[in-house]
Amino acid sequence: MYSNNIGGPCRGRSFDSMYLCFEETRQNNEVEENKDNRNVSSENGHATLALSLKNEAGGLLKTLKLFQEKQVNLFQISSRKSKRRNSQVEIVLDFHSNHEQLNEIVHLLQNQMNIVDVDSPNKSCFLEEDVPWFPKKISDLDKCSTHVLMYGSDLDADHPGFKDNVYRERRKHFADIAMSYKHGDPIPRVQFTREEVKTWGVVFRELTQLYPAYACREHVRNLPLLSQHCGFREDNIPQLEDVSRFLWERTGFTIRPVAGYLSPRDFLAGLAFRVFHCTQYVRHSSDPLYTPEPDTCHELLGHVPLLAEPSFAQFSQEMGLASLGASDDSVQKLAACYFFTVEFGLCKQDGTLKAYGAGLLSSISELKHALSGNATVMPFDPRIACRQECIITTFQDVYFVSDSFEDAKVKMREFAKSIKRPFTVRYNPYTRSVDILKDTSSIIDVVEELKYELDTVADALRRLNKQGV
Ligand SMILES: [Fe+2]
Repeated sequence: MYSNNIGGPCRGRSFDSMYLCFEETRQNNEVEENKDNRNVSSENGHATLALSLKNEAGGLLKTLKLFQEKQVNLFQISSRKSKRRNSQVEIVLDFHSNHEQLNEIVHLLQNQMNIVDVDSPNKSCFLEEDVPWFPKKISDLDKCSTHVLMYGSDLDADHPGFKDNVYRERRKHFADIAMSYKHGDPIPRVQFTREEVKTWGVVFRELTQLYPAYACREHVRNLPLLSQHCGFREDNIPQLEDVSRFLWERTGFTIRPVAGYLSPRDFLAGLAFRVFHCTQYVRHSSDPLYTPEPDTCHELLGHVPLLAEPSFAQFSQEMGLASLGASDDSVQKLAACYFFTVEFGLCKQDGTLKAYGAGLLSSISELKHALSGNATVMPFDPRIACRQECIITTFQDVYFVSDSFEDAKVKMREFAKSIKRPFTVRYNPYTRSVDILKDTSSIIDVVEELKYELDTVADALRRLNKQGV
């Protein structure tokens, strides 16, 4: 059976069944400058959200639950005939909310509904005039990390564990951990079952035999450190909390448990804060070398060794920062670049092709295929990779090769400049938040910090010169 253990943000389900629109009537035109220097109204206004339901039976329920979670009171729910398709009915929700709440609700609904539209261009709609909601500080990830698009505790009929009630119950346990997790909490330790450890052990043994010949040197170098500090062994599944602490000391990355697939936007947003959303469940034991979804074997063996590498961590974060506030189209392009680098990237080391993508480093068959000499490979170019089809059911048509993480980073940095956004963001490691650079005062603050950094470098050089080093 074909084995493919891939993950990442590119595999969201396409919900072609709903569109939403809203009309916002501000009751109060008072506008204030918020912390991000964005003009937003802090006053509640009458908002209307229209949902067109087709195939997604639970869509309305999910929507209402979201309003409940966000403590936004609906004062009217009605239905009307669709203006777009005669055969459809739209559900219209009337409620009071402020700009920020409305922006967040729309953002979260977008994750589940894919198509977003405005029913009347004459009415105020910040989706056209403003930027999509995005987390500004690391704790804001609490608002979007629980909105999984698929899997979690719900398995599709063709999932190997679909008919296994014990496995499904276990998946629910892992989903509950992820769904109740808040920023700053320690990640709950899991007592893995004997069966789970056995499954992990098979994957660990098979893959670690291949790494010396197939994995990039950074992966090969860091895996023993993970064995030493986090218990990466054939007979032990590492605890995410231990891995998170290790990564924090190495590169400032931390782990956050997640129940299933996030949207590309939410997944990339985590990277902007050096947060990696990580599954904790183990694939079904019936076929240890196959999983239809990323599991903890994929995350721990494929991703984590590279996240412990400073240059790779920087590369990952820059991709995340580029996604904040970007359009849906730009986010999809960034997600494709992520897919062909972080998941399926190759690099050239000492004249030999090696794998650094986690999708490859956790899939025996595709790892061998990509480096067999028979696969199509080409130099990494984000402008080409962003248009390449991300294949999830078989091997990729093409793999992209970077000279180094530094090389990939420089190319992605240039590509990110082409993303349309009315501001630039900069990560502030002291507050673990993003600074939004869109006016002279915010830019002056950065310049002041840079002046200090340059002074420090100049001082270090002066001392070196004095010593004649
Ligand atoms: Fe992945």
